[in-house]
Amino acid sequence: MQRKIAVVGTGYVGLTTGACLAAIGHHVVCADIDAGKVSRLRAGQVDILEPGLAELVRRGLDAGRLEFVVGAPAAIHTDTEVLFLCVPTPMGADGSADLRAVESVLREVGDLLPEDCAVATKSTVPVGTADRLSRMVNAPIVANPEFLREGSAVDDFLHPDRIVVGSSDRPAARRVGALYEPLQAPTLILDAASAEMVKYAANCFLAVKLSYVNAIAQLCDRVGADVVAVTEGMGYDPRIGRSFLKPGPGWGGSCLPKDANALVHVAESVGLEFPLLRSAIEQNARQQADVLDRVRQACDGTIRGARIGLLGLAFKAGTNDLRDSPAVRIADALVAEGAEVTAHDPAISGELSGIRLVDDPYEAVKGAVVVIVLTEWPEFRTLDWTRVAELMDGFTVLDTRNLLDGDPLTRAGLTWRGMGRPVTS
Ligand code: UDX
Repeated sequence: MQRKIAVVGTGYVGLTTGACLAAIGHHVVCADIDAGKVSRLRAGQVDILEPGLAELVRRGLDAGRLEFVVGAPAAIHTDTEVLFLCVPTPMGADGSADLRAVESVLREVGDLLPEDCAVATKSTVPVGTADRLSRMVNAPIVANPEFLREGSAVDDFLHPDRIVVGSSDRPAARRVGALYEPLQAPTLILDAASAEMVKYAANCFLAVKLSYVNAIAQLCDRVGADVVAVTEGMGYDPRIGRSFLKPGPGWGGSCLPKDANALVHVAESVGLEFPLLRSAIEQNARQQADVLDRVRQACDGTIRGARIGLLGLAFKAGTNDLRDSPAVRIADALVAEGAEVTAHDPAISGELSGIRLVDDPYEAVKGAVVVIVLTEWPEFRTLDWTRVAELMDGFTVLDTRNLLDGDPLTRAGLTWRGMGRPVTS
């Protein structure tokens, strides 16, 4: 049954939510304060690199089921049944989530909400936020966390593992849960605090898992084991699973770092230490320091003045998102140590301070003493390594994603160093 929905915020979560809810038959009005962005969206132009999203937006517009308006109040009509809040909740200076955008939208629309309209929070908000917000407006607040990965958000939305909704007003939670019925996913109707907690607990678990595997990779390096074989051996155990076991230059992006810091903050606010999660965050910083140590070694001890070529800047392949990207942190640290850094990322162009950004991967490796693969773009796998070897000034390719096949590199006379893998040269 078609429902009337308002979505505030058109970042990757808001836009995916709006376009997918329209795709499954609802009528959706999406609001953003950026008038330029709204007019581009009305013309079917999507700035975010998210497979399938632009097509869904255009289909929604053509079918008259998706509209874009400027400002949250314009999205609310007398028949709006659910308002989704998808505005940013950035990390404050102390690690807590900054809720000012959520609160300001509620202040703007509070008096306009029709009776029985539920407000659903998609933004990741600290435990207790639904209760706090329900004191601001006369409408039921439903926590409805999203589990959308950047780069596969549309697919994740349309094929969810589970739908989680939580509220002290159970009928309102059920109304929000019912929007997803066409997706036929297991739906959990919870209290608000538990629903909010699911999101943090899930993302922080993933962060801990990655920090663990990154530490195992460092250990494999020192004891001469191969982390790929080790994680394969671990992954057969269904209690562990195969996914999220790839070491890298550290975890990043718009969610994991923010949520890990926020959960530490939540724990502290109720007088609880969370040393496990703190260590996962510290291990992540250590992982980046470890990459820098490897670069230092490859540059004979000093990075100052060295030409370094970077392949990849986005926090993971399939996105053009640089938020909390380990690649950018590593690039910045190299620049701070006096390296001359040239970088290529297939999804990034423009300017980045201190870094020379180029459109061609071969241009990025020209004259480099060390080349570092920082994002797992598949196209890096098929580079002409003989040409790379000719263009480079040194021999080391540091593959922080274990993306490359070492053989073509060694045939070209290069030394390939993965993470937690035997060096081949
Ligand atoms: C994450 C959650 O997965 C998603 O459920 C939530 O809604 C938003 O946050 P996202 O930030 O898009 O999604 O990225 P994700 O695919 O989870 O990767 C996070 C980080 O971990 C990236 O830096 C990625 O490169 C890294 N990663 C992931 C690894 O280093 N190894 C892996 O095996 C998987």
